Amino acid sequence: MTINNSEEFRDKPKFFGRRKGRTIRKAKSFLIENFLPRLRLSSAEKIDLDKCFAESKEKYCLEIGFGDGEHLAALAMTQPQNGFVGVEVYKNGVANLLSILTGIKEGDDCGEVDEIHLVSGRKDNVRVFDDDVRLLFAALPSGVFDKIYLLFPDPWPKKKHAGRRFVNPDNLRELSRLLKRGGILQIATDHQVYKRWVMEQMRNNKDFCWTAKCSDDWRNPPADWFETKYQRKAIREGRKPVFFEYKRV
Ligand SMILES: C[S@@+](CC[C@H](N)C(=O)[O-])C[C@H]1O[C@@H](n2cnc3c(N)ncnc32)[C@H](O)[C@@H]1O
Repeated sequence: MTINNSEEFRDKPKFFGRRKGRTIRKAKSFLIENFLPRLRLSSAEKIDLDKCFAESKEKYCLEIGFGDGEHLAALAMTQPQNGFVGVEVYKNGVANLLSILTGIKEGDDCGEVDEIHLVSGRKDNVRVFDDDVRLLFAALPSGVFDKIYLLFPDPWPKKKHAGRRFVNPDNLRELSRLLKRGGILQIATDHQVYKRWVMEQMRNNKDFCWTAKCSDDWRNPPADWFETKYQRKAIREGRKPVFFEYKRV
């Protein structure tokens, strides 16, 4: 993505990642066809999150690029009082999230399933936008989220691809608008180039202040952290993730 403020670009941002990977097999295709429509948010009109859930929620949180959905599903399970919006373009990741939420896995005979239920004990507190989050921004009201998670975004480490990095002034303006005052933007990365990039972008941004008081605050995950797939991969491959927390001022 090159940073471009033209109206045309705003309507159709170019996406450079993968939308689909391995063939999505039976059970997960079944979930995408039959369960995703129940959770799916549409960007066609303005979204009122209070109307998206059957029960009222204390807080709303957004996770951008939730990957295989493990982190989002764990947050939603442990915070039943809150509502979660998860955004992911990668179809296989969306399918995986649905599998965690329903407990329906590859190999299960979906012909036997009359009605799809959430795993017992789960609240219906996750909604999904299965496309580029930049297409969702305009549909969301200002100041609606208490927390936004951006965990291990694609680093696009080559200088010539720097314009594709998600943390950029245009996206930060939107994230700042969506967060409540005092809300938190949590960014994790394991890539040296991206670490420096985030610090530089955020230092130049007057809407956010870094909450870290000492290096332990960003070298270690917060206390209530759930590991993500990319975090595990980074650790396996010898990279040390960092956890930046910025407060919306
Ligand atoms: C490196 S993966 C990290 C996934 C997950 N957060 C984790 O830590 O395991 C980055 C994810 O962000 C998603 N992504 C990148 N840009 C996006 C965008 N503009 N809107 C929605 N998802 C996006 C990609 O599809 C990919 O799954």
